[in-house]
Amino acid sequence: MALWGGRFSQEADQRFKQFNDSLRFDFRLAQQDIFGSVAWSKALVTVGVLSQDEQAQLEQALNELSEEVTANPQSILQSDAEDIHSWVESKLIAKVGDLGKKLHTGRSRNDQVATDLKLWCKEEVIHLRQAIVELQKALVITAEQNQNAVMPGYTHLQRAQPVTFAHWCLAYNEMLARDESRLADALKRLDISPLGCGALAGTAYDIDREQLAGWLGFASATNNSLDSVSDRDHVLELLSSAAIGMVHLSRFAEDLIFFNSGEAGFIELSDKVTSGSSLMPQKKNPDALELIRGKCGRVQGALTGMMMTLKGLPLAYNKDMQEDKEGLFDAIDTWSDCLHMATLVLDGIQIRRPRCEEAAKQGYANATELADYLVAKGVPFREAHHIVGEVVVCAIEQGKAIEELPLSELQMFNSKIMIDVYDILSLQSCLDKRLAKGGVSQKQVAYAIVKAKEVLNMD
Ligand code: ARG
Repeated sequence: MALWGGRFSQEADQRFKQFNDSLRFDFRLAQQDIFGSVAWSKALVTVGVLSQDEQAQLEQALNELSEEVTANPQSILQSDAEDIHSWVESKLIAKVGDLGKKLHTGRSRNDQVATDLKLWCKEEVIHLRQAIVELQKALVITAEQNQNAVMPGYTHLQRAQPVTFAHWCLAYNEMLARDESRLADALKRLDISPLGCGALAGTAYDIDREQLAGWLGFASATNNSLDSVSDRDHVLELLSSAAIGMVHLSRFAEDLIFFNSGEAGFIELSDKVTSGSSLMPQKKNPDALELIRGKCGRVQGALTGMMMTLKGLPLAYNKDMQEDKEGLFDAIDTWSDCLHMATLVLDGIQIRRPRCEEAAKQGYANATELADYLVAKGVPFREAHHIVGEVVVCAIEQGKAIEELPLSELQMFNSKIMIDVYDILSLQSCLDKRLAKGGVSQKQVAYAIVKAKEVLNMD
């Protein structure tokens, strides 16, 4: 039976009921709804609606229900209750009879759903932060193992300057650190309880909402009832965090897909995260990474969808807001799955060092070094840049690297070039010179690894 039968004389059309009901997705809020209900029953004791004894009975029945849900969450879906709130209430009434009907005194599904969803978000933030940290650790370990793995760094997808695989890993570690801190920051604004705001104007029972918030594990209670029941900023903030996080994972995936391509051949992905082709026996496709990149789209969609749903909604609660859950659940599940999958990809990754080094040597990645060399000999940078451009053209014409040109030939471009030029043209020298903070020198990379390990509490 619906919660609101009294006002109605006709049954709802089945098609409307299906359209309106949210149980098929909000069943995921069962534990939060039960937990919130226990706290609410305690609040009702403080205002004399329930006796201690009645509250104890309700709490016991709710705890039993919680255990049943833990044992078989899918069983909820067999019910034809409208939503998780009506499901919990009907189960409670089935267990304790009329006493169960008292629980909803002074409460509305509007403050209830807002509370349930915030509780759910808080838990997810914990899981997501753990998943991010796991991936960060995998990146730092991979970095540590590949401090000497030189490879080309790119701009415009053209070989630009040599970097190391370790430096590449640590770049993604930085992005993930920001993702994690974005969640930590979102949590501060999320951790405020709407329970006790009623339908929109506040509850008519003189409940200590701060105490109630404390029972629910929230840092405090919200300030304004109209805002509290219509606020979904936490959904937007989590979706925004997910959208940004997924952009990072998508770029990570794209880089690795390229590194893994036949053309680059810098890495080999493990059999654990690749698949074969049904037709072409030679193929080993980077499916895990392609799916990460692909799934980024739906998370951006969830954020945009929710923004549009909330845009122009009048205060306070409107049924439109029921649309908050499916997109959020899907986006958070997707983000979490992709974080785990990215960690798995790193776990079995092989770096083909000779091939990486070979590629780093090609493409005139040390041209900037030659320009800097000339600058050190007193040539203004702009002029040095031009001279090196000519050297590169000459080398390309001969199909050689800069360091393969004999000194006499190099000196034709500028007489200040001496034999020591060959030292600075080496890959090692290119790397070693990037000594300033954040640079690719081995010293800086080793320091970045130590720092990252400290932050992540590794060994
Ligand atoms: N199923 C609803 C939702 O998810 C719960 C709140 C319903 N409130 C109401 N007044 N109809 O938003």
